Amino acid sequence: MRVAVYPGSFDPVTNGHIDILEKISRIFDKIIVAVVHNVSKQALFTLDERVELIRESTKHLDNIEVECFSGLLANYLHSKDACAIIRGLRTVADFEYEMHMGMINKRLIPEVDTIFIMADSRNIFVSSSIIKEAALLGGDVSELVPEIVKLKLEAKRREME
Ligand code: PNS
Repeated sequence: MRVAVYPGSFDPVTNGHIDILEKISRIFDKIIVAVVHNVSKQALFTLDERVELIRESTKHLDNIEVECFSGLLANYLHSKDACAIIRGLRTVADFEYEMHMGMINKRLIPEVDTIFIMADSRNIFVSSSIIKEAALLGGDVSELVPEIVKLKLEAKRREME
């Protein structure tokens, strides 16, 4: 079984992430969306909220699992018997960081390759951070995130008022 891991912060999941997942779900037998538990990064959504939002937004795909991980991605990949890491690329600005991360991961776990998937042109500018900023300032992000994420962002905005 070809298992790919799609790691990230997903704070929150966006239509850009969903687009990548729809593409790779056709290529691999199983995709594990691995939400990182990063203690040094302040997140808007809790780990449980992020996992739930991804689960809700990927109900139409039948080979997706969503989990959390902490520590080294390479160790997690090994524990899941994964053959690939999936990362989305929007612009060349993403590339340098992604290339370095791909290289260190290749060194740490040589049997796993990083596969880059090009973002759809509609999602070139879509990032979780830009969406959080726009939504928390009252901007309409309904075309950029799944409906459930839009509702949760509105709830966070109300909590902060
Ligand atoms: O969505 P992000 O924040 O760009 O995702 C980054 C992520 C989670 C893929 C990356 O930070 C990661 O793999 N973290 C786990 C620690 C690790 O293995 N780092 C790379 C080797 S030092």
